[in-house]
Amino acid sequence: MKTKIKNFINKKKKRKLICLTSYSKSITQILDKYCDLILVGDSLANVLYGMKNTHNLKLETMINHAKAVRLGAQKSLVVVDMPKGSYNNSSQALKNVKRVIKETGCDAIKIENNFQNLNIVKTLVKAKINVMGHIGFTPQFKTKFKVEGKNKIQQTKLIRQAQQIEKAGVFSIVLECISKITAQKITKSLKIPTIGIGSSNLCDGQILVTDDLLGISGFYPKFVKKYANLNKTVDEAVKKFNKEVKLNKFPQNKNSF
Ligand code: KIV
Repeated sequence: MKTKIKNFINKKKKRKLICLTSYSKSITQILDKYCDLILVGDSLANVLYGMKNTHNLKLETMINHAKAVRLGAQKSLVVVDMPKGSYNNSSQALKNVKRVIKETGCDAIKIENNFQNLNIVKTLVKAKINVMGHIGFTPQFKTKFKVEGKNKIQQTKLIRQAQQIEKAGVFSIVLECISKITAQKITKSLKIPTIGIGSSNLCDGQILVTDDLLGISGFYPKFVKKYANLNKTVDEAVKKFNKEVKLNKFPQNKNSF
């Protein structure tokens, strides 16, 4: 386990780290061929369950999806997002994180950092849990979208926050929607890899929500690139099914017993 984490960290400065989200076994099996890290992101609240934010997601929901993702991953590091409210204090965090690791067999967890939960990170690391941090725009603690680190004061604050989290023992930090110059300064100041989303190409690696990349989520902000248009593909397939059933062209004899 430690080797997997060490290998991940050692890729900093060697090559870019490839990370994507997954919520299911089938998608994980594809991602696993190309990814260093697969995140069971709490973005599934919006993407899969149609919730307006990630604030009401249950720990059980994350555990169920993490179990499915674990089944599909052979080589990638699998990280599970701890949902909002599951790590309000150190003892609650430790209890819930241990449950997630035990029930899912995943490699690590991710928590969003809010300047007040450094001690929680320290507690988890002390208990030998692999922890990933998350700074910048942190959807569990912020409701209004804003790019972070655009002025000197914010920049200094974010660099200090990243350094404190690194010192607390996380193995990597997600930088979400942080200005290019600040993302670069954070990345240069850390020994551990930074994984950017909406934070420029100057991070050590990149992560996207896979459903956005595939063009199926319907949510495409500036930092997303649609590498496919699955909405269109699915639409065409379902339309054809609809037509063929109505015309009695499906099922044919070859589809019947
Ligand atoms: O929940 C998620 O998918 C995430 C990524 C956007 C980093 O936290």
